[in-house]
Amino acid sequence: MSDQLIIFDTTLRDGEQSPGASMTRDEKLRIARQLERLRVDVIEAGFAASSNGDFEAVKSIANTIKESIVCSLSRANDRDISRAAEALAGAKRSRIHTFIATSPLHMEKKLRMTPDQVFEQAKQAVRFARNLVEDVEFSPEDGYRSDPDFLCRVIEAVIAEGATTINVPDTVGYAVPELYGLFIKNLRDRIPNSDKAIWSVHCHNDLGMAVANSLAGVQIGGARQVECTINGLGERAGNCSLEEVVMAVKTRQDYFGLTLNIDIKHIVAASRMVSQTTGFVVQPNKAVVGANAFAHASGIHQDGVLKARDTYEIMRAEDVGWSANKIVLGKLSGRNAFKQRLQEMGVELSSEAEVNTAFANFKELADRKSEIFDEDILALVSDESVSAEKEHFGFVSLAQQSETGERPHARIVITSAGKEIKSESDGNGPVDASLKAIEKHVQSGAEMVLYSVNAISGSTESQGEVTVRLQNNGRVVNGVGSDPDIVVASAKAYLNALNKLQSKVERVAAQG
Ligand code: KIV
Ligand code: ZN
Repeated sequence: MSDQLIIFDTTLRDGEQSPGASMTRDEKLRIARQLERLRVDVIEAGFAASSNGDFEAVKSIANTIKESIVCSLSRANDRDISRAAEALAGAKRSRIHTFIATSPLHMEKKLRMTPDQVFEQAKQAVRFARNLVEDVEFSPEDGYRSDPDFLCRVIEAVIAEGATTINVPDTVGYAVPELYGLFIKNLRDRIPNSDKAIWSVHCHNDLGMAVANSLAGVQIGGARQVECTINGLGERAGNCSLEEVVMAVKTRQDYFGLTLNIDIKHIVAASRMVSQTTGFVVQPNKAVVGANAFAHASGIHQDGVLKARDTYEIMRAEDVGWSANKIVLGKLSGRNAFKQRLQEMGVELSSEAEVNTAFANFKELADRKSEIFDEDILALVSDESVSAEKEHFGFVSLAQQSETGERPHARIVITSAGKEIKSESDGNGPVDASLKAIEKHVQSGAEMVLYSVNAISGSTESQGEVTVRLQNNGRVVNGVGSDPDIVVASAKAYLNALNKLQSKVERVAAQG
C-alpha cells in the first residue's frame, strides 16, 4: 500500500455549504490559488450543476489551477455529470465526484428509491462519468450508516465500472474512531476488487471527532485520501480540519509513517483568507491556526519554553506560517515592498489592477495606523473592495457622536448602484446608529443573527474586524469589514453582507 496520503480539500464545496459561507467566483478563485500554493492534491472547487454561479466558479478554477487536480461534485445523474465535465473541460487534471445516498433512511425517506434502483443509478453514473474523464470518485452518501452488505455490492460494482477513488462519508458525524476505521477495513477486506481504487475518508464533526475519525480511517482502515476543509469549515459543526489532520500526520510521522505534499508554511495564510472571506471567525484556542495555539500564558510554561522550546511545544509556529506580529510595512513603504510582502506571505492577486487597489487601500490605512502587520495586509487583500467585482453598496464616510447620557447619532454616506446616498439615524450605541442609518435607506428587512468584533493583531492599536450575519427570506450571509475604527468596520461589514444578499445566487440543495 502507498505511504502517500492524498489531501482532498473541500473548503470550496462542502465548506461553502455552511449557511452564510457562500463565496463569489473571485473569492473562490483566490482561495483556490492559496490551496494550490499549499500544494493540496485535489481541490473540490464546487458543485457545477447547483447554480450558474458555481458552474462559473468551477470553470474559472479549472482554467487557472495547474498543479492540483480540480474536482466538481455531482449527483448521480447524467445532467449533473455532464455539467461537471463541461465546467472542468479546461483543467489540466480533472476529477468528477459523483454521489448517491445508500443508507436505508436516506434511500427510503429522501430519495424514495429502492436499494436496487440506487445500485443501478450508482453504476450508471460512474459509467457515464468515466466516458467523460479518467478520474472518477464515488461516494455512497451517509455511507457509515449504510448496511455493509449493500455497500459492498454497490462499491464492488462502481469499481468495476471504473471508479478510481471510493470515499466513505460519515455524513452526519456519527462515527467513533475505532469503529469507523474498522468499518473501512471491513469493506476493503470484503470487496474483491477493493485494491483497484484509492480509499478516502470524509468525516463531519458533529461529535467533535472528525479529525480522529479520519485518522482512524487512514491508520486502521487503510484509506489514503482525507477529505477536509481549511479551519474545519462546513455545515453544522463542520468537516475534518485540514490543518489539524496535516499537522497530526507530520508531527506524528513516527506513528503514521505517511508522506504528504502539503507545504505547511502556507497554512496560516490560508486559514486567515478563508476566515476573512467567509466571516467564520477562528476560535482562539483552535489547534494550529487559533490565535492562542502557540501562546504560552502561564509562568511555568513560559519559563520552560525560554529554556528549551520543546518542553511545551510540539510544533513550531513559524513552520505553519505564524510571523510573531512583525511590523512589516509603514506609510513610507512603496508599491514594490508591498508587492514583495504579499509574495512572501503567499498571496497572489489576480491582476495588476487588484494590486493597485490593494496598495491604495494600504496607503490609506498606513496614514491612519502607524504600524502595519501581516494580519492587516491579509485583511486588506481579503477586502471586497480589492476584488474586481463591482459591488452594489459601497462605504464612503461616517460621522457619529456618542456621549454619556446622550443618545448616539450617526451620519453616513454610502454608494448605492454608483449613486451617493446620505442617511442618518439615532441608535442604542454608535454601531447601532450607523447600521440603522444604512438600513433607513436600504430597507432590506434582514434580521441580524450574529455580530462579532475581533482585534486583528491583538491590541487596541489593531484594526477591528467585524463579522455580521444577516438572514433574509431563508438566506443567510456573512459580511466582514475591517478598519481601525470599529464603527466604520461595522458599517463596512454590514454593507458587505447586504451586497451578498443582493448578489448571491440560490444553490440547489444536494439531491433536492
Ligand atoms: O457528507 C457527505 O456525505 C458529502 C458527500 C456529498 C460526499 O459531502
Ligand atoms: Zn460532507
